[in-house]
Amino acid sequence: GVRLVGSEMCIRDRETHMKDCIGIFDSGIGGLSVYEEIRKRLPDENIIYLADEANCPYGTKTREEVRAISIKNIETLMKMGAKLVVIACNTATSSIVDTIEENPNRLIGVIQPTALAAKQHSKGRIGLFATDLTVKSGVYQSYLNNELKFAEGCSDLVPHIEAHDYNSQEMKEMILSHAEKMKNIDTLILGCTHFKFIKKEIQSVLPHVVIVDSGEPTCNILIDILTKTHPFERNHQDTKTIYVTTGDETKAREQLKSLHIIFDEIYHKDI
Ligand code: DGL
Repeated sequence: GVRLVGSEMCIRDRETHMKDCIGIFDSGIGGLSVYEEIRKRLPDENIIYLADEANCPYGTKTREEVRAISIKNIETLMKMGAKLVVIACNTATSSIVDTIEENPNRLIGVIQPTALAAKQHSKGRIGLFATDLTVKSGVYQSYLNNELKFAEGCSDLVPHIEAHDYNSQEMKEMILSHAEKMKNIDTLILGCTHFKFIKKEIQSVLPHVVIVDSGEPTCNILIDILTKTHPFERNHQDTKTIYVTTGDETKAREQLKSLHIIFDEIYHKDI
């Protein structure tokens, strides 16, 4: 058929294929906290980051909705060439734990590694900040049993973080009220990848707790899996990082700029 080359069509039709790249997705910018760790420790890998802003936030949707969205995102990234996909979102992970377990070398979720890291730090008094859907799923509970003392649904923080509001009075009050139950814990899990961006603000109201986020423990698992499944792969010469948003491209550029995160390419895609 005839292909239009009008600018809008070009953008909408754009098909990137980057063979053997690492795919990462989140509902928005939260997964960038995992991406940054991966980029730092695996600088020779090609990466496609999918920010599913069109469906953000996930944490207030139903499990079935988030499950369908997550499967679609994984398929999209694999079609774009991903050798494996890091689900850099606790909410998405919580909705497809069974699928992740069935594909241990191709799908990496954030919950198991983060829960196990918290267990190592804790003397058995763990607290959890996560989206309402993640809390409701009980997946953290399934790894932590009675070591998980409090699980707090904090979906209300996500839109503020997407808007880079870390410090407003409203934000301070929300963080304080979520932290209220957490006085007697020794370790707090940031069970939503967005919350890494307000780690400082959370630590200031809970100075005595060790805060664990998904970045480092998930990257450790990713490196183990790559070592096992792609042991002879040599580093790429010219690595490329691509940021694909299902939302507004201009907004994505602004968000990345204020986070000081650089991608070689940034564009919108409907999926
Ligand atoms: N970043 C996602 C997570 O780790 C959730 C944000 C959302 O509600 O979309 O759970």
